[in-house]
Amino acid sequence: MTTDARALEAAQLHAEELRTTIRYHDYRYHVLAQPEIGDSEYDRLYRELVDLEEQHPELVTPDSPTQRVGGQAVEGFATIQHREPMLSLGNVFNGEELRAWHARVCRLVERDAFAMVCEPKIDGLAMSLVYRAGRFATGATRGDGTRGEDITANLRTIRALPLVAGRGEDRSPEAFEVRGEVYMPRPEFERLNAERAAAGEQLYMNPRNTAAGSVRQLDPAITASRRLALFAYQLGWVEGRAPVDSQWGALEWLRALGFPTSPHARRLQTVEEVEAFCAEWAERRDSLEYDIDGVVVKVDEFALQRQLGIVGREPRWATAFKFPAEQAVTRLRGIDVSVGRTGVLTPFAVLEPVFVGGATVSLATLHNEEQIRLKDIRAGDDVIVQRAGDVIPQVVGPVLSRREGRDLEAFEMPSACPVCHTPVQRDPSEARTYCPNRDCPVQLARQLEHFASRGAMDIEGLGEQLSFRLVDLGFVRTLSDLYALPDRREELLQLEGIGAKTLDALFARIEASKRQPLHRLLIGLSIRHVGGETARALALYFGSMDALRAAPLEEIMGVEGIGPIVAQSVHDSLHDERTAALVDRLRAAGVRQDEDISARGGPLEGVQIVVTGALTQWSRNEIEELIKRLGGKVGSSVTKNTAYLVAGEGGGSKRTKAEQLGTPILDEDGLLEVLRDRGWTPD
Ligand code: IVH
Repeated sequence: MTTDARALEAAQLHAEELRTTIRYHDYRYHVLAQPEIGDSEYDRLYRELVDLEEQHPELVTPDSPTQRVGGQAVEGFATIQHREPMLSLGNVFNGEELRAWHARVCRLVERDAFAMVCEPKIDGLAMSLVYRAGRFATGATRGDGTRGEDITANLRTIRALPLVAGRGEDRSPEAFEVRGEVYMPRPEFERLNAERAAAGEQLYMNPRNTAAGSVRQLDPAITASRRLALFAYQLGWVEGRAPVDSQWGALEWLRALGFPTSPHARRLQTVEEVEAFCAEWAERRDSLEYDIDGVVVKVDEFALQRQLGIVGREPRWATAFKFPAEQAVTRLRGIDVSVGRTGVLTPFAVLEPVFVGGATVSLATLHNEEQIRLKDIRAGDDVIVQRAGDVIPQVVGPVLSRREGRDLEAFEMPSACPVCHTPVQRDPSEARTYCPNRDCPVQLARQLEHFASRGAMDIEGLGEQLSFRLVDLGFVRTLSDLYALPDRREELLQLEGIGAKTLDALFARIEASKRQPLHRLLIGLSIRHVGGETARALALYFGSMDALRAAPLEEIMGVEGIGPIVAQSVHDSLHDERTAALVDRLRAAGVRQDEDISARGGPLEGVQIVVTGALTQWSRNEIEELIKRLGGKVGSSVTKNTAYLVAGEGGGSKRTKAEQLGTPILDEDGLLEVLRDRGWTPD
């Protein structure tokens, strides 16, 4: 052998080794969901194979993992005739219908029990995948059930689809067909839509339609960019000896060959168990990262399946237990605008009532102006409404084909507040519209409702209705009036539907709310951008409203977890005359304005420390916890208020800043020393 030939042989062996390794890791990742190596290690292996194949193009094999996106864009798809028709499924919608299906099968096979395989019914697209000599040969859509489109080149780009069945081991029959569902995982759908939103492009409606659009791309490179996934759920025709005699066996066999199958499939013996399985998944459907619209129930044994046969286009040996539809189409009567507690105007949909996800829906969220524009939703459109689980109903988008011939106007935000008619203002940085009038009665009522809510001052019984009444009737003109309500007991007793008992209970809760810690008050004040996390961070850091009010912007910005926009908003609000006056009145009414900081008097009390770089003795969390536990404060950037910078490996810019300001820089041992000097001993 010449040196060249020997080198080529070595390269070929190495390439084959790399391919086997990559296929193995694909299998761990896509089928077992138990990756053994990280993304960068995988990418390294992949890169190495790409390089090797570039050096020796003659060594490239069609089933190499690098060849998923091969081929050129096509003009259109060829059709493929399915050797066996792709059937559809009969439906059952409740336990009673399921038991009727079971009873009928029992009667037909003259048995009183039989095993069933239950699989989540994935809401994607059915595919027929043909393998010859262990290699993926052709893939087609369901089409009309008899003929589908040849989308082999696109399907090859799906990472979860094995190009080699059995990873080269000779375990598969001569040729066989696998049926499965191609779908788009929800996170991928959201990623795509976020990209489109950023580019100002019209948004996709749902993962299923997007998956359908993606597999039918004429250019496989586009399909490849969509990161579709696959579950195999059925063994079609087999040339040679059929390797299994049941659905459960088929799923196991497919999995062993490297096909991803649903990890949630179960073999069950009784119809009661099946019913419980269906009920469980109806509840848990949102916990999956892909949409399911039911459970497919299949008779397990092939012998029984054959005996039951097919009627029309539906096998008698399987049925789909369908969940209530989470989407429905209805007419969008109009787009109204509501005003929130911070004055933000939010458009919402007024719908022709429609039954969806188990309830009648007549109002739905449209999210915000930008979404309406991106989805091109117009009053008068027929729209898709979605109600999933406990999430508030939302308008997914218009059915554009039903707009034809009608002249509908694009939505525009009103130029004045729908409640107080003050001209609105736009916040360019956030693309939001505000009513700037802080005396707008809706804002006050919403603020009151929020002030009293569970996460804020927790005044049970003071909900939306009562908040609006108190504001409308003039009992509350500013939040602090709440604490003067007990003085107006007699007047309040005149109100319809409020008895003495209810009222006194409410007064007791109003009184109790005075003892809420500072962070609850901060949440209750409806300061823009301040939610629970921020409020807690501020309260723990500053300890009292006075300290927070006295803090310069720079110090607020330095609190761990608080960004510049939030800090600015907090600072501005507390220095705003009205808020300042409100805070003073609340204090005068007896409302507490400090936080229990358990570490008061700790060795680091009042000491602000910034941590940077990689530490060895502690994780970032651990050291921050420790500092806080000892009464110290963790800052996010070095300022003149910073007492120490604890710096590990790396940590460039903070170290430079500390050097400029002359802030002491400690390593981990240095910190321990400081702590010991302050009288602390590690436990
Ligand atoms: S079995 C004869 N199993 O549901 C049995 N179908 O109408 C044929 N589907 O379009 C289908 N998950 O794409 C089966 N685990 C599953 C499935 C499943 C989703 C889809 C399939 C077909 C429709 C059935």
